[in-house]
Amino acid sequence: MQSFELLSQKFNLYFDKRHFPEEPASLYEPCEYFLGIGGKRIRPVLCLMGNELFEEIREDAWHVGTAIELFHNFTLIHDDIMDKAPLRRGKETVHHKYGGNTAILTGDVMLLKAYEELNKINISFLRAILTLFNKTATRVCEGQQMDMDFEQMENVSLDAYLKMIELKTSVALAASLQTGSIIGGAGERNQNLLSEFGKKLGIAFQVQDDYLDAFGDPGKFGKQVGGDILANKKTFLLIHAMETASPAMKKELADLLSGKSAKKVDRVLQIYRDCKADSWALQLKNKYLDEAFEHLEDIAVLSKRKEPLRELAHFLIKRDH
Ligand code: IPE
Ligand code: IPE
Ligand code: MG
Ligand code: MG
Ligand code: MG
Repeated sequence: MQSFELLSQKFNLYFDKRHFPEEPASLYEPCEYFLGIGGKRIRPVLCLMGNELFEEIREDAWHVGTAIELFHNFTLIHDDIMDKAPLRRGKETVHHKYGGNTAILTGDVMLLKAYEELNKINISFLRAILTLFNKTATRVCEGQQMDMDFEQMENVSLDAYLKMIELKTSVALAASLQTGSIIGGAGERNQNLLSEFGKKLGIAFQVQDDYLDAFGDPGKFGKQVGGDILANKKTFLLIHAMETASPAMKKELADLLSGKSAKKVDRVLQIYRDCKADSWALQLKNKYLDEAFEHLEDIAVLSKRKEPLRELAHFLIKRDH
């Protein structure tokens, strides 16, 4: 069994090459730029790990991992347009550097590249994997639309937030693992348990993402800290503050959200701190991590084989970028 770190190194070696043609450079240079600024490459490694949980890693898992990483980068390029984000991975976002129209096409062509890569896999897996891939990508669109709809709403429940992050983020982590397990020959029950593990882990992962968006170290985070506050994103931080703050703080929060105060980010962060944001974040992450581990334990393979996944799960919810 290989550790997350080792598999990441191997995947990076495999993936870090030119993916697109030279011309037209105005389209393909932004593609190479974005892939070249890195990222943690969690999803393809999850695919490799999902395969290795059951059986030695097969060639097909590298193709599927590549397709998943390309798909992920497509979602990020379009997400940054929608979120008006200036920074990602410590560098300028594609729409900031090359303009919105180019960013749309850069995302599109990256998605098509993902399908080209999927098309390389053994025909015996193709239908199952393509079906899962498309179902997942559709869920991501649904989640992303809900995320934007919530920007315009005053009251969003914690349950609605959890549903939204399951769709926009967790299903992709779950599918990364599940595609790997399909290639590894897992039976349906084990596949589903692994997918449930990924879903719960994905929720904890997005909770950490939302936490870092507010409280991350700008030197490490790589994205604009406070971006979610500026965009009126309904994160668990805001939902919890709305539920637990004093009436005076609630009023201030509502005014800050509807206004254009230059102190918006600073004031909202202070309110979060006053409402003990740290301990909610921890509570929520631990709840989902525990649930994730229950599913992992139920998978019918030797416990030792699950160690890299356990290690990765702990890393993901403590990450600083
Ligand atoms: C960012 O994903 C988008 C979310 C679903 C939170 P990652 O944090 O995996 O982004 P990179 O690829 O490592 O930059
Ligand atoms: C994005 O969630 C999830 C997807 C890209 C599908 P966020 O908008 O929170 O992700 P970041 O923070 O920009 O990476
Ligand atoms: Mg975003
Ligand atoms: Mg977003
Ligand atoms: Mg975020």
